[in-house]
Amino acid sequence: MVLVNVLFVCLGNICRSPSAEGVFRAHVQREGLSDLIAVDSAGTGDWHVGHSPDSRARAAAKRRGVDLSGIRARVARPEDFHHFDYVLAMDHENLADLSRICPPGKEDRLALFLDFAPALGQRQVPDPYYGGSQGFEDMLDLIEGGSRELLAHIRRTHL
Ligand code: 4NP
Repeated sequence: MVLVNVLFVCLGNICRSPSAEGVFRAHVQREGLSDLIAVDSAGTGDWHVGHSPDSRARAAAKRRGVDLSGIRARVARPEDFHHFDYVLAMDHENLADLSRICPPGKEDRLALFLDFAPALGQRQVPDPYYGGSQGFEDMLDLIEGGSRELLAHIRRTHL
């Protein structure tokens, strides 16, 4: 039975949030928690709805053993705040956009992803879309660190 539902949200849902979905799901699987923790991702914008993750994001994840090929972009909706216990924004712009569609009383579901990993010293996962390939490696490093700390938090809090 699923106990905890986690949604990662970025702008396009083709780079950062699908990468976080894939990496965090891999952490959950590695720890044998797949029956208890469900993972999804979405975007605040609708330009890429139905698309696979960016080919650079897929390649970078694959080099780390994570397969993003089954993910398709979708838009974050107000109803997501009823279903998901954690609605995690990649940057302050995503957080502000999400707070505008958040139903009254559900604000406690919403946070910056990296606020679960203060030791990383960075609160946002920068958008790698318009940069070079190093941006995707840096993005994955942050997501790996954030995923480890988020999973530790969920274990302490819910399991
Ligand atoms: P993401 O990156 O928010 O990490 O998926 C972006 C992807 C596409 C666009 C912006 C950000 N875009 O403007 O098309």
